[in-house]
Amino acid sequence: MPVLSPRLTNITPSGSDGWEVFTRARQMIAGGTPVTELTIGEHDIRTDASILGAMDKAARGGHTGYAMVPGILALRTEVARRVEERTGVETTVENVLITPGGQAALFASHLAACPEGHKALFIDPYYATYPGTLRGIGGIATPIQAHAEDGFQPRIEDIEAEAEGAASLLINSPNNPTGVVYTRETLEGIAEVCKRHDLWLVSDEVYDTQVWEGEHISPRALPDMAERTLVVGSMSKSHAMTGSRVGWIVGPKEAIAHLMNLATHTTYGVAGFIQDAALFALRQGPAFERKIAAPFERRRAIAVDILKQQNHVRLIPADGAMYVMLDIRETGLTGEEFANRLLDDEHIAVMPGESFGQAAAGHIRVAMTIDDEAYGDALRRLCAFAATLCE
Ligand SMILES: Cc1ncc(COP(=O)(O)O)c(C=O)c1O
Repeated sequence: MPVLSPRLTNITPSGSDGWEVFTRARQMIAGGTPVTELTIGEHDIRTDASILGAMDKAARGGHTGYAMVPGILALRTEVARRVEERTGVETTVENVLITPGGQAALFASHLAACPEGHKALFIDPYYATYPGTLRGIGGIATPIQAHAEDGFQPRIEDIEAEAEGAASLLINSPNNPTGVVYTRETLEGIAEVCKRHDLWLVSDEVYDTQVWEGEHISPRALPDMAERTLVVGSMSKSHAMTGSRVGWIVGPKEAIAHLMNLATHTTYGVAGFIQDAALFALRQGPAFERKIAAPFERRRAIAVDILKQQNHVRLIPADGAMYVMLDIRETGLTGEEFANRLLDDEHIAVMPGESFGQAAAGHIRVAMTIDDEAYGDALRRLCAFAATLCE
């Protein structure tokens, strides 16, 4: 075989991508061992039947050919309307590109924002694909650690210290894996650094409908930030449409025009019947989005209640998103060791904190993605398991 391009092989150079516990859990399940799965951010409900109805109607109605590459006008208009309504920032179709999910939007945004060989900053702990995405576009992936003792709000001086010579900064609020929602103060500090060092800000807002404490503020709405912010959005989490692969980038018109050229040369757009279904889903409005988010808010309350009945595992209070982070350092194990032993001994699968960066070492991320009773039961077993390790 000829040599593979480093552009590809550098995406996960170590050969490890942090998903080993997840893969092992899936293998156990395939081999017939029941495992309580609390790893990935996948709802325990499927895409709503009404959305599937809209998809079916669109496909049978003939929307199966090539769709408009930047997205059908009606969907781009609806996304623009939604973003403007939620943020107050004037937004038109020319600010919107429809993408095959948030992940493709992250990749495309960084191709736009970070020239090859430049530093692309991101906050650690991070969503597991971030460093690979930044390396994949040829950037120098540069983590900035947030700290558990700050509730994982990043320190502005730490961002400032890395900003010189960087091209972009990627943030994610509400955050996966920590559940932190950035405060106005944090976001204003970030905005100032971006302006001072002429950085693009890529704001991953795929959890913007899952906020339990505080408020979601889009940094695009802060003074003079619309011209340097690329917002990544997605239907995956807000509408339980993970498999449909539909999301968007909202940004300055000129950037979006160039990103359309990228779409023409890569994805060639998103299937028309999927876009019609996404349009139908968005038009169900905020009440529908609240219904999709409600189970996670309930389970967060269950977690708070169970965790306060013991003192070996510490809950990082999640302000948003569909996960809780647990500090298991008292057990003396790393997050990875704890997750592996929990899988072997209790058949419960969680993600090791180390999968999300060094700042999350000694933690585990527990997705709130099974029904309330089973979720409570799994957490109680997890705490009892941790207690045995602390004896
Ligand atoms: C923080 C974050 N960003 C982006 C994504 C990508 O989502 P999708 O490609 O399904 O829109 C995820 C998925 O889990 C995520 O957690």
